[in-house]
Amino acid sequence: MKILVTGGIGFIGSHTVVELIENGHDVVIVDNLSNSSVKVLDDIQKIAKRRPVFYEADIRDKAAMERVFTENKIDAVIHFAGLKAVGESIQIPMEYYHNNITGTLVLCDVMRTHGCKTIVFSSSATVYGMNNVSPFKEDMPTSCTNPYGWTKLMLEQILTDIAHSDPEWSVVLLRYFNPIGAHPSGIIGENPSGIPNNLFPYLARVAAGILPCLSIYGNDYDTPDGTGVRDYIHVVDLAQGHLKALNYATEHKGAEAINLGTSRGTSVLELVKAFEKANGVKVKYKIVERRPGDIATCYADTAKATELLGWSAKYGIEDMCRHGWNYMNKK
Ligand code: NAD
Ligand code: UFG
Repeated sequence: MKILVTGGIGFIGSHTVVELIENGHDVVIVDNLSNSSVKVLDDIQKIAKRRPVFYEADIRDKAAMERVFTENKIDAVIHFAGLKAVGESIQIPMEYYHNNITGTLVLCDVMRTHGCKTIVFSSSATVYGMNNVSPFKEDMPTSCTNPYGWTKLMLEQILTDIAHSDPEWSVVLLRYFNPIGAHPSGIIGENPSGIPNNLFPYLARVAAGILPCLSIYGNDYDTPDGTGVRDYIHVVDLAQGHLKALNYATEHKGAEAINLGTSRGTSVLELVKAFEKANGVKVKYKIVERRPGDIATCYADTAKATELLGWSAKYGIEDMCRHGWNYMNKK
């Protein structure tokens, strides 16, 4: 199939593009490079031995998107393009709503015009909000506390409404838990610019001596060691989940929300210890105040992914730590 991957130069997108090419698909990428480097195209080619077609374009640019769909007979879309920093979304909400929501509306409009009605969308565990108890199941009530989260929740609603309005649409809403790690080759991985907000890239930079010390946000949560518990998932497992979701979407109409996680919770301290053990390094840390908006525990119920997609995560925490570190040291 010919698959359009929006945001395909980014962290999760690039790993998914590799899996798509390795599984015989033709890939067209649209990315505006707002949070990525075009060099990743060479890296994808190095691993997958084929270079995807690339358009440097913004998904909000309707003329550019028309050109992509006119020049390529796209069968389905995997839609990663979006802004994703929670804190920044509180500072500049208009940019977040415009980029994520307008962008998706323009994309869907052009898809409809060209008769392409199959989309796999990057949603997030953030839609489970503050009030549910883990493991999170897809039928739990959803809510949000920041503009980034709202864009995900609103887009889930918009895409579901589109699927309900026209029975030819297939929509899969993938709710990712915490993607970390890197491709085992060490050629692609996560490379946030500036000081990372997320735990894994931060602690890897502390281990490398680039940053002095990890601040652990609270050790008084109601968790086994008091630090926050998350469901870390290897980015390659996540990428493979997208291929399964694509297969599902091509065979089923309508809209489905599906969790992609491991069903396993790991605390901040456990992740630090696992990283130290896997890589033979030390991570200096101190305990500081809780970060506002964080919940104590977040992990997935993955039964629906197993049942509908025939997918489950294969990699463990140690692999995630090893591969993430390997990537950092090769860069
Ligand atoms: P990323 O920033 O590495 O990748 C997103 C890519 O989209 C970037 O290459 C960026 O340049 C591009 N982009 C952004 N806006 C665009 C636009 N208007 N037009 C064209 N390209 C645009 O992020 P990621 O971690 O790979 O995340 C991919 C998706 O998954 C995002 O939608 C994100 O919200 C979602 N998600 C990520 C996480 C996570 O922890 N990484 C968790 C849950 C959901
Ligand atoms: N943490 C620290 N120190 C840090 C960074 C994080 O102690 O420097 C802790 C947090 O308090 C939390 C855990 O590490 O307990 C994980 O935090 P991350 O920032 O790595 O991830 P979050 O679970 O807060 O959020 C991530 C993405 C969101 C997404 C969510 C669910 O950033 O966009 O996973 O998929 F919505």
